[in-house]
Amino acid sequence: MLGNLQIFLFIAASSFTVIHSLNLPATDPRRSAEGIFIKVNGKQFVKDGQPFYINGLNAYWLMSKASEPTEKEKVSTALHQASLLGMNVVRTWAFSDADDYFPLQTSPGFYNEKMFKGLDFVISEAKKNGVLLILSLVNNHEDFGGKKQYVKWAREKGQPISSPDDFFTDDLVKRFYKQHVKRILTRNNSITGIPYKDDPNILAWELINEPRCESDISGDTLQAWIEEMAAYVKTIDNNHLLEIGLEGFYGDSISDRKQFNPWYDGAGADFISNNLVAGIDFATIHIYPEQWMPSSTLLDQFVFVQSWIQAHIRDSNEILGKPLLITEFGRLSPNSYPVNLKERDSLYKLVYSGVYGSAKEGGAGAGSLFWQLLIDGLDDLRDGYEVILSETPSTAFVVYHQSQKLFSLNKAHAFT
Ligand SMILES: *[C@@H]1O[C@H](CO)[C@@H](O)[C@H](O)[C@H]1NC(C)=O
Repeated sequence: MLGNLQIFLFIAASSFTVIHSLNLPATDPRRSAEGIFIKVNGKQFVKDGQPFYINGLNAYWLMSKASEPTEKEKVSTALHQASLLGMNVVRTWAFSDADDYFPLQTSPGFYNEKMFKGLDFVISEAKKNGVLLILSLVNNHEDFGGKKQYVKWAREKGQPISSPDDFFTDDLVKRFYKQHVKRILTRNNSITGIPYKDDPNILAWELINEPRCESDISGDTLQAWIEEMAAYVKTIDNNHLLEIGLEGFYGDSISDRKQFNPWYDGAGADFISNNLVAGIDFATIHIYPEQWMPSSTLLDQFVFVQSWIQAHIRDSNEILGKPLLITEFGRLSPNSYPVNLKERDSLYKLVYSGVYGSAKEGGAGAGSLFWQLLIDGLDDLRDGYEVILSETPSTAFVVYHQSQKLFSLNKAHAFT
């Protein structure tokens, strides 16, 4: 077992000598894609017939930093750190729609090659470090464009629409979105020479980050959109897994489940019916207790987290029969609130033990990705949730410990 100091030294040094002292083989079979697509078999992820568990992180900023020659080294460093702590999946954005600073899609169908090359670099560096990627295709929120930007583009072409939720129904907007999906999936990586849709280093596509459709809380609008878009993705790419990007809110399909929501309605989403759509390979949830229930005590928030995870694992086991990945969880970091490091580490442990408890029984709980990893020198990206491993070795240790536990589970399965 490693002490915090050793974790700190190894993060700081990032040298191969120190990696060896970690006892986590660089050729860890769980981590390197080795040209094999991860698949889903029942409620488990499988790699080459063996269960595949996930410990990873979010780093939405990779593409934009990778597009800057002076900054791209930071992408390599972040992915290297992830791999040193045994993490095997990174979730990031494959969108930036007419954002002021770093647009990928400058207008419908027009792309900034510099940004695309940045994304190429992210994929190629992930492969070098043995981590897989989940790439999200658009944002529900207006950061980096999102629904709102697509609706604006369509309005500029004469569509009489204005609400961001028109994203889900307007024909022209849907055409723009499909065009973007196709462009990303068929992109030929300028570094690896592998089209994205054929690249096993991509674990999954995500339709949209955190979809909500509050203008139709019946859930029908979002359900129809997911059905149409999941089918569309699969017509282009049947190699990769697909998930929606849901936060996990329960809707009316099994209305007694709404008791588990942080607030009453499902914000237009429905964890059950949305994830039952053909083509959706696994389910996702997000966890932000202090954002979702700001007036609750820490204890109540942690009770919520536990029941939120357990309810979704149970439904993934019993109703969906698909794996569940916690694609975002986090808590404001110690730099924003000096007293919170212990609380944050406790939240991480709570989430990790929920995942591990399910995984060790062969259940649907397959992994989790914290929000979000930064490295030194990215102060402008601090959002209060950032984990800079060298700043908070205790968190690095908690993360590393989860990798080890899931890894030992892999070995256990390999010998049974
Ligand atoms: C992708 O690019 C590589 C290298 O430029 C090339 O060899 C390969 O044929 C291309 N693949 C496709 C499908 O265009």
